[in-house]
Amino acid sequence: MGWHEGPLQSWYDIHEAIRNELIRIKRLVDEASVDDRERLDSISDEVHFLADVLTVHSLAEDGVAFPVMRSHGIEVPPSFSADHHRELSTLYAMRAALLELRFHDAGQDVTPALKRLGVLIDAVGNDLDKHIEAEDGELIPGCEAGMSLEDQASMITRMVADTPAWLAPRLTAWMISNISMDHRVHLLTGWQQAMPPAVFADKVAMIREGVDAGLWDELVSEMPALAD
Ligand SMILES: [Fe+2]
Ligand SMILES: [Fe+2]
Repeated sequence: MGWHEGPLQSWYDIHEAIRNELIRIKRLVDEASVDDRERLDSISDEVHFLADVLTVHSLAEDGVAFPVMRSHGIEVPPSFSADHHRELSTLYAMRAALLELRFHDAGQDVTPALKRLGVLIDAVGNDLDKHIEAEDGELIPGCEAGMSLEDQASMITRMVADTPAWLAPRLTAWMISNISMDHRVHLLTGWQQAMPPAVFADKVAMIREGVDAGLWDELVSEMPALAD
């Protein structure tokens, strides 16, 4: 993903993080076996989390961004919302396959469920790749061209307003972990400038708590103010 200066950068950032998450889940699924309980548990954790993130993200697009864009005369084909439903229902099917793999009877043959999981992660990965490519390549640039910077900033603020409090800490740390260093610094600098100091301090605490120690040290060396 290239560089997009402006209020909508965090929209590109979450797409970058979702793509990286899909690569990680695919790797875990490709190396899974029906008796590797630990790995199946960790795939389940990642898939549940991705389903939560994608639900919140897709809702923010369907419920805030797309209606706002249309009111500015920017065309948003209905296929984008149809994609959301299909992607989320694929994740639902993945969760069902994972339940079968983790909570089966002794002697139950669950190899078809593992095969299904592999097919489903490929399907949702391809689906989201195309979907995100179209959003990054057409929809978001349409906002950048057709809306003032103030309107873009106001829209992106409302898009994140409904993120549930229980999801925010993990989501924040996950997002920072899954984007490139220049995007991290850009995002954190933007937050620092836009947020009241106490709110920014909360975000920094979530990141410190949720990212691995090596990444935290790198972040502090890029932005020493984070350690204050
Ligand atoms: Fe979307
Ligand atoms: Fe999106």
